[in-house]
Amino acid sequence: MPSFSRRDLLKYGTIATGSLILPAVYGSRAIAGSISPRVRPFTLPFRVTPVLAPKKRSGNRDYYEITMRKTRVEILPGYQTEVWAYNGLVPGPTIYQTAGRESIIRFINQLGNIDTSVHLHGMAALPQYDGYANDVSRPGYYKDYYYPNNRAASLWYHDHAVHHTARNTFMGLAGIYIVQNQTELNLPLPKGKYDVPLCLQDKLFFSNGQLNYDNQGTKGVNGDVILVNGVPWPVMQVERRKYRFRLLNGSAARSYRIFLSNGDPMTIIGTDAGLVQTPVEVRNFRIGMAERYEFVIDFAKYPIGTQIVLRNNNPSNNDEFDNTHLIMRFDVTANATDTSNNTIPSYLREVRVFTPQEIRNARVREWRFERNNGLWRINGRSWNPNRVEANPGLGDIEVWRLYNNGGGWFHPVHVHLVDLQVLSRNGQAPFAYERGWKDVFYVGENEDVRVITQFLPHRGKYMMHCHNVDHEDFDMMIQWEVGQGGPNPLGAPPQPWNPSIPTPI
Ligand code: C2O
Ligand code: CU
Ligand code: CU
Repeated sequence: MPSFSRRDLLKYGTIATGSLILPAVYGSRAIAGSISPRVRPFTLPFRVTPVLAPKKRSGNRDYYEITMRKTRVEILPGYQTEVWAYNGLVPGPTIYQTAGRESIIRFINQLGNIDTSVHLHGMAALPQYDGYANDVSRPGYYKDYYYPNNRAASLWYHDHAVHHTARNTFMGLAGIYIVQNQTELNLPLPKGKYDVPLCLQDKLFFSNGQLNYDNQGTKGVNGDVILVNGVPWPVMQVERRKYRFRLLNGSAARSYRIFLSNGDPMTIIGTDAGLVQTPVEVRNFRIGMAERYEFVIDFAKYPIGTQIVLRNNNPSNNDEFDNTHLIMRFDVTANATDTSNNTIPSYLREVRVFTPQEIRNARVREWRFERNNGLWRINGRSWNPNRVEANPGLGDIEVWRLYNNGGGWFHPVHVHLVDLQVLSRNGQAPFAYERGWKDVFYVGENEDVRVITQFLPHRGKYMMHCHNVDHEDFDMMIQWEVGQGGPNPLGAPPQPWNPSIPTPI
């Protein structure tokens, strides 16, 4: 078990009243006093993150440019916080792209002394553009990343530098990337300002307002301030109609169980890798780090003046602070000004069903996510770019069994390249809301999750890891490979940056 940390002392110090209080250990459900400077929940306005337009278009290619730099932003009112930002924004700018077009994004590292590697999470990129952990851009270097945009989904881009993913993403290097296709756009689902990305993150600050990357010795950072799109506990004014929310858990180590304060249901319409086949009504759902769930709330039934809080019923093994049970508030302030695209179709899209025969014939691999001599491991292994732990052939269907033999932690497991489906959870049917294409699987305390996929569309070496980014860094990550002879993940190395370098299109 992790030992009594400085932070436990700090936080329990604030509630100690002279009696001996036992130190917090993993699994504690005690509510601790906050450490960061105080912000009253629901005092700041909601905002959507600015959208990045391409700098250039040519044929079916769009060229974007993102510079990574240290900058200062106001997150806590009255404090200027240093962040590591994509184009000066935390979260980074949102990118909207159309399936079938190709994106080329030039990421320029001007962070001074920080190495980066950019991963577009959910994109089937070639190995050399997948943010391979060891493919780092040194400060003063840039790299052009090519993305095929082959499927419609809510993705996100974030740093993936070897052993520094947790720190780099915690400091701000994360943003949302949405791919849409015509089939989806033709559905009467909420669009435009009624289709709202939500990047949910918790952060911890020092009393001077600077970010406090305290990973509690590889357990992971649990913040006491909940941000949505970079704003602590914002208030969003909504009209009396339906809204589509694309929720990303962009936290380092915190999972959430989401519900509405009035107990009303939400309608899940999408998972990590796009729309589900049929909508699912839920009263709450669990979301681990890097997972995405898309849901619709219909505010039409509430009178103007209604306030509804999006709340969190902390799943186990998350540190709870005074206000970590709150996320944001919806204030119903107006009648609908636009009632088009205000329907949830009962059928959203076809999601492949793996046949009993395909499942029976699939090769099964077992992956044990464990703590081993104080380190995070997968089948006893840690990250080694020179080793390949599994080698499915191109087009093969396999079942991967992901299991957690510990009760003191949970692991949201992410597989690069492919979208997969949950076959079973602890021998039972998957949760109704996780029946869709996904790339992250919440492997909770002592849980056992079987997932299935077909290994397409590229050959090559890819990563699998826990998306508690501190677990990932220390060292719950392995490499696997589709087929033989795929492109070298280090085959398109970053180059020294110079502003006179022409754009690639
Ligand atoms: Cu979202 Cu390998 O990461
Ligand atoms: Cu990924
Ligand atoms: Cu983990």
